[in-house]
Amino acid sequence: MKWIETASYEEMSKMAADLFINHIKNNSKSVIGLATGGTPEGFYKELVKSYTSRKVSYARTVSFNLDEYVGVTAESEASYHHYMKKRLFNYIDIKRENIYLPNGDTPNLEKAAREYERQIEESGGIDIQLLGIGTNGHIGFNEPGSSFENTTHVVELTASTREANKVYFERLEDVPKHAITMGIKTIMQSKKIILLLSGASKREAYDRLRTGEVTEQFPASALHLHSDVTVIYTGVK
Ligand code: GLP
Repeated sequence: MKWIETASYEEMSKMAADLFINHIKNNSKSVIGLATGGTPEGFYKELVKSYTSRKVSYARTVSFNLDEYVGVTAESEASYHHYMKKRLFNYIDIKRENIYLPNGDTPNLEKAAREYERQIEESGGIDIQLLGIGTNGHIGFNEPGSSFENTTHVVELTASTREANKVYFERLEDVPKHAITMGIKTIMQSKKIILLLSGASKREAYDRLRTGEVTEQFPASALHLHSDVTVIYTGVK
């Protein structure tokens, strides 16, 4: 695991964005993995800038998001579908048919999960995956205790994750109790992984990841078993 500390949030976002942009520029087709949350917002601004300044085209990029809430329609403002449109997809030339997010708005979630794995596989696998990290070490929505063998599946969100994500909803009661997420195994199959970690609220997660201990009680620790992970971090101390 490679660790890079940056002087600011903006620098962290730019550094991560450049890794993706260069990958897209240097390959005839790219499959990228995307994350939601507050941390990657600056990253998305950089991707939008790269397109508006004609530095890169996303016309041959395929994207897969990590996760989505269960029981929330794609049109709902609280959905990750909406988050992604509002921050990225509406402003770049990625083709709508090349955008994938797990479907949490279906009665058959098991089937949706299998379908998502198949779509990732058919695309040739994720070349470069962006990750944030929850204060409890979750990646995607893989909460502490998740098996490292899980592929895309439905999870029950912990109280702390629902609390952390309530900023996107009117009331805590509105935060969904379940989500559909790529599993740790899915994430680990990405060829390259970039994890962003920013701010003092992530200090404990940073310290724990730094120890190198690998345990299912701290999902991000699976990344120690991957050969190409870069953590770009700022403002943890
Ligand atoms: C959410 C997302 C994760 C994200 C995490 C951290 O629960 N499912 O993919 O990494 O929270 O979010 P933030 O960047 O807002 O701290």
